[in-house]
Amino acid sequence: MAEPKKIIAVLAGDGIGPEVMKAAREVADAAEKVFGLQMEWREALVGGAAIDARGSALPEETIEVCRSAKAVLFGSVGGPKWESLPPQEQPERAALLPLRKIFGLYANLRPAVLYPELVGCSPLRVERVVGGFDLLVVRELTGGLYFGKPKETTKTPKGERAVDTMVYETYEIERVAEVAFRAAAFRKKRVTLADKANVLETSLLWRKVVKQVALKHPQIALDFIYADNAAMQLVREPSRFDVLLCENLFGDMLSDEAAAVAGSLGMLPSASLGEGSFGLYEPAGGSAPDIAGKGVANPIAQILSLALMFEMSLGQPEVARAIRSAVAGAITDGWRTGDIAAKGEKSVGTGEMGKEIARRVASQGKKV
Ligand code: IPM
Ligand code: MG
Repeated sequence: MAEPKKIIAVLAGDGIGPEVMKAAREVADAAEKVFGLQMEWREALVGGAAIDARGSALPEETIEVCRSAKAVLFGSVGGPKWESLPPQEQPERAALLPLRKIFGLYANLRPAVLYPELVGCSPLRVERVVGGFDLLVVRELTGGLYFGKPKETTKTPKGERAVDTMVYETYEIERVAEVAFRAAAFRKKRVTLADKANVLETSLLWRKVVKQVALKHPQIALDFIYADNAAMQLVREPSRFDVLLCENLFGDMLSDEAAAVAGSLGMLPSASLGEGSFGLYEPAGGSAPDIAGKGVANPIAQILSLALMFEMSLGQPEVARAIRSAVAGAITDGWRTGDIAAKGEKSVGTGEMGKEIARRVASQGKKV
């Protein structure tokens, strides 16, 4: 009997989401042919597009499509059109945060890689990034200030009082720390915890629990850094980091910074994982409304998110490798979208870059 098709939920969303998703789907088509995969791609509405069509950023039917799937390939959500909505209804908050919570996606992996050929794209001076770098932010994604209760604004005699709560329990730290240590085992074997143990109770618990988890991974070195210092070291010497483990808010900030020093947000994928193999894969860069619809966005972040999906949710590292090597080959051979082109260098649009990468995936198949 034929193997059942692997169902993937495709949530392209807003802004550049649909354009870069189209390019990623072409790469996926090429991979399907070369590797003889049986896939079914189920599209569903999310974000502003879903607000417009269905009145909600995360309609029930979209959640159902995600439930039916092995993984979610996510584009991006948000844009100026929906910015005047109340904060709780805005696409980012009303789509992404509930998706993370509903599916228990507590570990967010954000690789920030600067390819040696692209050191000129980094805003850092070349001597600080010579040879490129490869670091991985592992961010806790379903706890801390984002979700802690109480979370409210109340009236007071003098005005208003707003509170967010940073709260963590042992198990929440343990499980994401496990992910960080396991990731480090395949890398340079170092985990650095960024915290504010000089100020925060939660950070003291993080240190204690992470030290305990480290005992199970004697081959991995563990060190600690205050989050403010981590922010500074990221612009001084990003290559000193291997896996940077953070609670939710620190990880939000430090991953954006790591992405920025890596040159272009358009290159960076991410994976959000929970228990089991289900995951959500999205580019780090967001909906980029300023360039949406122009066909100039870099599709590589979406394409590398697809590669991560094959590796982490579908158990097909060989497909992931083929996609990554197609991307690396295109970069080496000088293919550039505008965001990664040096002054005077020729650049191509989203569609051309996607097709070139798809072509390389297809031709790799011919060699084997
Ligand atoms: C991210 C984003 C989200 C976050 C926003 C859009 C809610 O910044 O994924 O990093 O803060 O987690
Ligand atoms: Mg962020």
